Amino acid sequence: MSDDPIVFLNGDYLPISQAQVSVLDRGFMFGDGVYEVIPAYTGKLFRIEEHLKRLDNSLSGIRITTAYSHQQWIELFTTLLAKRGLTGDSAVYLQITRGVQAKRDHSFPDDLTPTIFAMASPLAPTTVSDGVDAITLDDIRWAYCHIKAITLLPNALLRQQAVDRGCNEAILIKDGYATEGAASNLFIVDKEGTLLTPPKDHTVLPGVTRDLILELAAIHQLPYREAQISEQTLFEAKEVWVTSSTKEIVPIVTLNQHTVGSGVPGPIWQKMIAFFADYKEQIRRGEVQ
Ligand SMILES: Cc1ncc(COP(=O)(O)O)c(C=O)c1O
Repeated sequence: MSDDPIVFLNGDYLPISQAQVSVLDRGFMFGDGVYEVIPAYTGKLFRIEEHLKRLDNSLSGIRITTAYSHQQWIELFTTLLAKRGLTGDSAVYLQITRGVQAKRDHSFPDDLTPTIFAMASPLAPTTVSDGVDAITLDDIRWAYCHIKAITLLPNALLRQQAVDRGCNEAILIKDGYATEGAASNLFIVDKEGTLLTPPKDHTVLPGVTRDLILELAAIHQLPYREAQISEQTLFEAKEVWVTSSTKEIVPIVTLNQHTVGSGVPGPIWQKMIAFFADYKEQIRRGEVQ
């Protein structure tokens, strides 16, 4: 694998060492931009329409427009994967910032040219069959968590606190209710055996993996519900999982050092990870997207 991989920047495919952005870019100055992370299984883009719809919402949520149609984004990602020779499991990272502004100013004119950057990298194998540890922390983020903004300082500080305490993820608590992880959505299996995840609103990122899990639960007739999860319900859960495009479905086996359920990945997780693996196989065979 090349240590100077080809990336995409503002219309050009070039080695990453040559990809340069102005220090006056509002992404650098203000964290003013949005991003997407899209897995590709054997080169086939995972749930691409869902990722692109979320991208559209993120862009309109911060008032950026680009000239790209969905088809053009797909061509860009496919070309990038091919140029990188990534035929196994990989992920495309796309970042769009508001662009370069001659003078540093919080307010912005409408006619800036967005900076568009994309890179692709191999996806590390994911299954964490032993489960991982997590802690709960106050959700200190802003009020537009449904936008996939590059402004990730709160998420980075929260995740780092979890890592400092030997854990993999921080589960965030807002007004007594769990919202999501620092870089993941949250699922629990409650005392009654129902799979729960918080509803999609401005307090959570509408995860593409999350939506697929709900679809798989419906197809396979697992009881599930979108519902607020109080801190008490979280701590009484039989199973706790966090989900994301790159890590898929990760079972949490301790929360604030308390054992979750029986301390090992639970039976509903075992089922769901098998359904998920089956879905990925269908993507590889080109049967679903
Ligand atoms: C805060 C947050 N929530 C949820 C997710 C999961 O979203 P997806 O499944 O689309 O990767 C992410 C992924 O990065 C995230 O950063």
